[in-house]
Amino acid sequence: MLPSRHGATTDDTLLRAAHSTRRRFLTVTGAAVALAFGTNMTTTSTARADEASLRSDPFTLGIASGDPLPDAVVLWTRLAPEIFDPMGGLPDQQFPVRWQVADDEGFRRIVRQGVATARPEYRHSVHVDVTGLQPAREYFYRFRVGRYVSPTGRTKTAPPTGATISSLRFAFSSCQNYPEGFYTPYKHLVDEDLDVFFFLGDYIYENAVNSVGGTRNDTSTEIPDIFQIPPDTLDLYRLRYSLYKSDPDLQAAHAAFPWVVTWDDHEVEDNYADDIAASNKPVDDFLVQRANAYRAYWEHMPLRPLQEPSGPDAQLYRRLSFGDLVQVHVLDTRQYRSDQACGDGAKAGCTDAGNPARTILGEAQRDWLLDGIGTSTARWNLLAQQVFLAKRAASLTDPPLLAMDAWDGYTADRQRLFDTITEADVKGFVAITGDTHTNYASDLKANFEDEASPTIGVELMGTSISSAGDGSDTTPALAIEMQANPHFKFSNFQRGYVRCDVDRDQLRADYRVVPYISRPGADISTRASFVTEREAAGLQPAESKVDVR
Ligand SMILES: [Fe+2]
Repeated sequence: MLPSRHGATTDDTLLRAAHSTRRRFLTVTGAAVALAFGTNMTTTSTARADEASLRSDPFTLGIASGDPLPDAVVLWTRLAPEIFDPMGGLPDQQFPVRWQVADDEGFRRIVRQGVATARPEYRHSVHVDVTGLQPAREYFYRFRVGRYVSPTGRTKTAPPTGATISSLRFAFSSCQNYPEGFYTPYKHLVDEDLDVFFFLGDYIYENAVNSVGGTRNDTSTEIPDIFQIPPDTLDLYRLRYSLYKSDPDLQAAHAAFPWVVTWDDHEVEDNYADDIAASNKPVDDFLVQRANAYRAYWEHMPLRPLQEPSGPDAQLYRRLSFGDLVQVHVLDTRQYRSDQACGDGAKAGCTDAGNPARTILGEAQRDWLLDGIGTSTARWNLLAQQVFLAKRAASLTDPPLLAMDAWDGYTADRQRLFDTITEADVKGFVAITGDTHTNYASDLKANFEDEASPTIGVELMGTSISSAGDGSDTTPALAIEMQANPHFKFSNFQRGYVRCDVDRDQLRADYRVVPYISRPGADISTRASFVTEREAAGLQPAESKVDVR
């Protein structure tokens, strides 16, 4: 174990990964580096602002908490009185931000408090890794700067590591393209009683947003023309987060639960692979863009300093545990992957998709994952990740059309993972996934070329918050997929999230959907429910039950 630059410890697998990408980054030209990092570090202002100079509420982007540990949780906010100003409407000065954590919502029993510094080079974002907390406890938190007090957030620490716990309740979703509709699923999510929420990628999108926010048709604020441009600079990425995080339903969802986040492609650009842009722009240019995108992501997410990017590299894959019940392996299937096989898209009979030299995880993350899964003592192993893990035949042809951007385009890594599960006799393996803007429930087969092979786990594919708009219960394409994939038990093309209840022996998933998002106010309902047994993996339909615990 060696100390990282943040003083925390990491294992040498992670250091190896960082080293290999850093070496490659030396190929980026000096001019490009200056472009990427000139705004970050070199002109850092250490001047202290007068808090009394704040003339309007700086908490316009909300608050958040994340990555709960038994004794710690990360608190986040960003000061930005003017959301469409590149500086957030603040001077190039530091602001002191007071924070408090309390046992009660009224802040009568404060258990931890302090002062963080909001720095201009981080666009006045604040990440506080609050330690010394009690396990499995609900806490409330808030920030104050000058005379402004933030909304109050609720968070919860994880149970003690290894402790026997009887249950965990979580939900997950992904893909919140702003102009495609209202974030109504979040409006209902806050009424759930969750220990933790997982966001599995596509927090922002690069597509043009018009002055009224597309489908939202919001005439109360005029979204600037700069949102017509796909982001590549740091400030353009920051502005995307400012717009997205201005949504009140999203803010409420962040304030209600600790979030565990990972990214997919749109946080940088559609379907990129490691240092290769789908548009095939020069690698050096794209790595600068990736550095900007990763930096803006970190500035706006409740992540620990260990996840802060260094140039175009960031350590986002990580593990979290909830007692002895659930171990979560959070993946990053973008940063280290080989370029998509056979030119990307949907391809039939692409032999390169199975080339063992190609990888979706990268060698270091793959070693880390296989080792973590193979030696896990948790009752359940949860893979929180971005793209479809199960085989998804999109046609009835032989061979079928398969998506080269998903694990179907990297089948050697998938087989290595499944072989580890089989060889180590891992029980309770569950993948939770984003990306397709569609709900699916799928069994995971030891060998997808043999439907009679054992079921070694299940995949719960969650639909989007808003991407793809209102949607519909099903589509002709989904009807074909249900026919072409006997391991699929369910599909649905509406917006929402998946809520899961885990106990010692069973995991239950409720697919929560809304009928529309093109206007506000839709109710939510449970479209389908499934259970899987730890000792006998495989999805079975479950009776629907009363939605409130
Ligand atoms: Fe998406």
